Amino acid sequence: MPCTVVVCGFFGDTGKGKIISYLAVRDKLAVTARAGVGPNAGHTVVYEGTKYKLRMLPSAFVYDKCRLLIGPGVLVNPDIFLEEIQLTKSQDRVGVDPQCAVIEEKHIAADKKGHLAKKIKTTGTGTGPCNAERALRTVKLARDTPQLEKYVTDVPLEVNTAINRGKNVLVEGTQGTYLSLFHGNYPYCTSKDVTASAACSDVGVGPTKVDDVVLVFKAYTTRVGGGPLPNELSWEEAEKRGWAEIATVTGRKRRAAPFNYELAKRAVMLNGATQAAITKIDVLFPECKGVKSYEELSHHARDFIKNVEKEIRVPVTLLGTGPGTWELVDIRKNKI
Ligand code: GTP
Ligand code: IMP
Ligand code: MG
Repeated sequence: MPCTVVVCGFFGDTGKGKIISYLAVRDKLAVTARAGVGPNAGHTVVYEGTKYKLRMLPSAFVYDKCRLLIGPGVLVNPDIFLEEIQLTKSQDRVGVDPQCAVIEEKHIAADKKGHLAKKIKTTGTGTGPCNAERALRTVKLARDTPQLEKYVTDVPLEVNTAINRGKNVLVEGTQGTYLSLFHGNYPYCTSKDVTASAACSDVGVGPTKVDDVVLVFKAYTTRVGGGPLPNELSWEEAEKRGWAEIATVTGRKRRAAPFNYELAKRAVMLNGATQAAITKIDVLFPECKGVKSYEELSHHARDFIKNVEKEIRVPVTLLGTGPGTWELVDIRKNKI
């Protein structure tokens, strides 16, 4: 802190939403800015007994003093944005940048057919065609959309002002390193770069302003849609191991494979990670379900974490032991 970037080191769906909800409360975030592609993401936050599935608003909404912004690099679907404002009761603290591009019906229709649907197996949320139109410089922006008028604000200015005043700011990445248009398995990737540098650019934060990059991994890897997944398991085997997951946005089955050290190491490099978080420790080691201190973890779980640290050469600071915001081991806090 004050400026932390959170991104995923695999193929998305590693539990950034849950990790960010925890950091929001722990660090009393003043401002959070959503980066990434747009509503193709699905972040799950399980807070005080309610499960929230967010596609547009930042997961830090759980801390009610935090300003919730969407950076100019992000594509906005106004209907989803307004729905989520109601869901999270956050109308007084939400802002969207005037330069955000707006997803229209024609983008969604184009995303649901042809090679995008059949070969790439996109989420069908219109993000690829909308980014294509942005590159052509014909896309509609938030500043031209009456539905968004009362929420429009200069996001880079708000974010940088908060950083300069020493307040805690978090930049929320979406998707995952290996879905990046530049660093993923082209063409089986999303429609822009989604590594930490891109997340900063999405919200207008320069590289010298960032203090920490938290790279989120899951204790195993999953992938939805097309493209290679090294050491992929059959659905039956994934079910047997408890790794069978269903995607938040599309309801598709997530393909699964064991933790991939080579991909993890490269993701640390590509994102300039300063620390790592590993979620779903409880799925790999059921005896760790709900555990909140390092001492309570089983020796199998500790050996796994030590091995990950040895390989990726950055400290693992947060461990997920369940879907809830508080089902987590904060290793630094434990050591204080
Ligand atoms: P994208 O931005 O779409 O990549 O999503 P994401 O990284 O926010 O992850 P998503 O919420 O799509 O998927 C993570 C799933 O794992 C959700 O169902 C979470 O509730 C759940 N989850 C997160 N952390 C943990 C954990 O430590 N243990 C368990 N059992 N579930 C977790
Ligand atoms: P698009 O981003 O909808 O164009 O989809 C391109 C690829 O990225 C497909 O394989 C999607 O399944 C995947 N993808 C996009 N966003 C996410 C995400 O948030 N989590 C996981 N996979 C995603
Ligand atoms: Mg997701």
